[in-house]
Amino acid sequence: MRAPIVLGIETSCDETAVGIVDAERRIHANLISSQVDEHRPYGGVVPEIAARAHVSRLDRLIARAMAEARLGWASLDAIAATAGPGLIGGVLVGLTTAKAIAAARDLPLIAVNHLEGHALSARLTEDARFPYLLLLVSGGHCQLLIVAGVGRYRRLGTTIDDAVGEAFDKTALLLGLGYPGGPALERAAEAGDDAAVQLPRPMRGRPGADFSFSGLKTAVRHLIENNPAASAADIAAGFQAAVADVLVDRTRNAIEMARAQAPQIAALVLAGGVAANGYLRRRLGALAESQGLRLLAPPPALCTDNGAMIAWAGLERLAAGLTDPLDVAARARWPLDPEAKPLPFAGVKA
Ligand code: KG4
Ligand code: ZN
Repeated sequence: MRAPIVLGIETSCDETAVGIVDAERRIHANLISSQVDEHRPYGGVVPEIAARAHVSRLDRLIARAMAEARLGWASLDAIAATAGPGLIGGVLVGLTTAKAIAAARDLPLIAVNHLEGHALSARLTEDARFPYLLLLVSGGHCQLLIVAGVGRYRRLGTTIDDAVGEAFDKTALLLGLGYPGGPALERAAEAGDDAAVQLPRPMRGRPGADFSFSGLKTAVRHLIENNPAASAADIAAGFQAAVADVLVDRTRNAIEMARAQAPQIAALVLAGGVAANGYLRRRLGALAESQGLRLLAPPPALCTDNGAMIAWAGLERLAAGLTDPLDVAARARWPLDPEAKPLPFAGVKA
């Protein structure tokens, strides 16, 4: 019997993405149409522009992915799409398109939580067996979770203010490094000396596994105002080192918490756009090694938003018999662990 094949659609933020993957972990197509140029003049993602750009690109991208994979509709076993959390206009574009294909081709529909896409992405390329500890670091999220199985997540910690990718993007903007900020900041930091500047390590040494990044971003702003001569490279390196120190400290606590609940955990998995950062991967790799864990992370192109991870999450859900009705709703907010304690402040990203 041939391996099931799923087409996955991702439109929750500023990447229009389509992936086609099979259950034997072959990626038949993984196309991304980035909207960076449309959003660059505004220094961030404008939801209305994103939704319109998804509408104008998605159909053609799906046709290109099918052609690249040399597949006909009859070869597909299901259609998966991100159904949230994210910018609701964009999510609706992808989910509605998926529903239309599912209805027209009589295929099962799978409504994927974008965070589950990231959470399971390491299983597409690495030997990540359940349960594992997941550090999910993206533009909208910063969480530590036990991943016990498909649809089975226990949150150990989350950010009480900014997400880590957001902190990278805002800091890069302050440093005049352009947009999108994360990769630009990483490049700038390579030429810098992290010891040349002093920045805080918010939450370091505190019990638990929660994060806070807004103070770090503010500290960078003060540093720039008070030391106009400080180089962008040194500040970028100092910022990245501070983020790494915080992530390592919080993850160390989470490892202890996770082991108390699931002693068989053997891997620390990184996922989300910020996990593309080579310096952070090295620092968290060293932590994992010192704790007797394997560090598993997808290749950088599968860390940032992509369609293959949504197709893969769709395959995992399909194998578990988890498909969705055609009237499934798009959700702007959709926590992976609905049991997790509410955040201390209102208005914080889910
Ligand atoms: O997962 P993702 O593509 O989208 C969300 O779901 O949010 O993550 C995007 C975030 C952005 O904030 C971007 O600046 C950050 O990931 N990012 C990086 C790097 N590449 C992307 N941050 C640090 N270093 C990188 N190399
Ligand atoms: Zn993402």
